[in-house]
Amino acid sequence: MAEDVHAHSTPRAPSPLWLRVGFWVCTLIAVAAVVRRVVALAFPSSFGPPQLVELDRIFASHAVLTLAHILPALAFVVLAPFAIFSRFSRAAWPEQLLFPLGAIVGMTAYAMSAYSVGGWIERSAVLLFNSLFLFSLTRAWIYKMRGQSLLKRRWLIRAVVLLLGIATTRPVMGVFFATSKLTHLGPRQFFGIAFWIGFSINWIVVESWFRFKNRVEHPRR
Ligand code: HEM
Repeated sequence: MAEDVHAHSTPRAPSPLWLRVGFWVCTLIAVAAVVRRVVALAFPSSFGPPQLVELDRIFASHAVLTLAHILPALAFVVLAPFAIFSRFSRAAWPEQLLFPLGAIVGMTAYAMSAYSVGGWIERSAVLLFNSLFLFSLTRAWIYKMRGQSLLKRRWLIRAVVLLLGIATTRPVMGVFFATSKLTHLGPRQFFGIAFWIGFSINWIVVESWFRFKNRVEHPRR
């Protein structure tokens, strides 16, 4: 990982438009995924594509755990922009709430893995990326406690972008759903692959961005 050990007051490279658009698209997808799941849990229906009906049935079988995961996750993604972009809010509480919320999301994500639709391929992705997320969040917390705000910010952004990897898995799943007649792959086969692709994309993007930023902000290092 690109560690920012040289976090001094240097000119900051502004984030490019595509990165900000990606952030907001991920946030919208994450919110929509929660709304869709809450509606499906509240009003179960047996109409629609069989693969989706089967998924709804699986998540309804552990509804309490699913809600314990997705409601804090919703709160996390709604608050994250207020913690990351100072133009929205200078209040401290959104950032403070991200730490307990993130811990709940991470812990319940491990628990959700016990029922994972995509089996061990999905579990292995969750083990890696969820652990990276919790590690980044913990480091952000440690830097916050030490008053090292630039390093705290960097690890918090890393944690948020990693967490939003769950949103990137959704369009990937969409492509698998759309092509399932050709590929003969069902959710049990492609969920795990989608988890690996989605989280990897977000991880690569955030690490590449930090490396680029380091090169621009500290050209002689
Ligand atoms: C570190 C980040 C996260 C990880 C590792 C993670 C992991 C998981 C896992 C393993 C499942 C169960 C999937 C299955 O049974 O196959 C799940 C379900 C779910 N997660 Fe997360 N999650 C994370 C963050 C989020 C966020 C930020 C949201 C949205 C705000 C979210 C929304 C959902 C929803 C809605 C479900 C229910 C299944 C569905 O409707 O597709 N998750 N998550």
